[in-house]
Amino acid sequence: MIDKINAIKAEVETLKATSLQAVEELRIKYLSKKGEVSALMQEFRTVPAEQKRELGQQLNVLKEAVTAKLAALREALESADTVDADLDLSRTAAPMPLGTRHPLSLVREEIISIFSRQGFTIAEGPEVEDDWHVFSALNFADDHPARDMQDTFFIQRNPDVLLRTHTSSAQVRIMEKTQPPIRVLCPGRVYRNEAISARAHCFFHQIEGLYVDENVSFADLRQALLYFAREMFSPDTKIRLRPSYFPFTEPSAEMDISCNLCGGKGCSFCKHTGWVEILGCGMVDPNVLEACGIDSKRYSGYAFGMGVERITNLKYQVKDLRLFSENDVRFLRQFTSAH
Ligand code: PHE
Repeated sequence: MIDKINAIKAEVETLKATSLQAVEELRIKYLSKKGEVSALMQEFRTVPAEQKRELGQQLNVLKEAVTAKLAALREALESADTVDADLDLSRTAAPMPLGTRHPLSLVREEIISIFSRQGFTIAEGPEVEDDWHVFSALNFADDHPARDMQDTFFIQRNPDVLLRTHTSSAQVRIMEKTQPPIRVLCPGRVYRNEAISARAHCFFHQIEGLYVDENVSFADLRQALLYFAREMFSPDTKIRLRPSYFPFTEPSAEMDISCNLCGGKGCSFCKHTGWVEILGCGMVDPNVLEACGIDSKRYSGYAFGMGVERITNLKYQVKDLRLFSENDVRFLRQFTSAH
């Protein structure tokens, strides 16, 4: 009998099953009433009394071994339930396609990062505005052409409700509720009633900056913008300020940078001038400070404003503005490794 016990034990150790049904069949074969282990139990009754102790122990060990083996087989099958039988765990994982950041977001973040290193914080305002915050507080004369229907999208007339044409309106809101020192950047979308083409769109994105404190000078403005140009483009970028006009700044200027494609030598991109225009700026007009409740005798300030699309075009040579809002993934995917 001990031989039979050992034979079954050896056989059970090598058992395999490919389905739960097969495990059940093995249970019937060994452990059911008519199974092989039960048959040995029957036989056990007839063994001589002096062998009972030894054989009884061996039989119990066998029964436990069969039970444990079947349980292990069942568990293995249950946990592998959904796994393909010929799964190759050594295969490399299929690449997971990552989305890309929009080029305008990349450039906006970079501009913000450069100015935040100079102490600027972010302030945002509403896109749907009133006449006061977009025009009147900013010293626009009543008959200024920018107020005209050709430039501005009006939602309602009298009282005027309109889409902001620049984010300077957010700066007015800050000045109205904060006393200097003020050092803020106002990023956001702006709207102008222009025919859509490769070079113009009816909406675009701006980042405007404002610094108001005691003794703020034009030299401070120039230095902040020079630092920006060198960080954004390259350390040897040159800047040039040309006199200009904005109702809300006096004096006003437009800033050019040395063409980042030809390095200033002259190419078709810079129309052979060696310079490209990137932003408008100036000293905040005292009328604007007063309109916002800031003492213009004590405080002075500078402001600047740039189009994010324009800076992105310079950085990545995007030829058609419409690409920025068409969501064509063939265009957007090209910025996968930009950051
Ligand atoms: N608000 C101006 C524009 O939208 C830009 C600007 C801002 C110019 C601040 C000078 C100073 O064109």
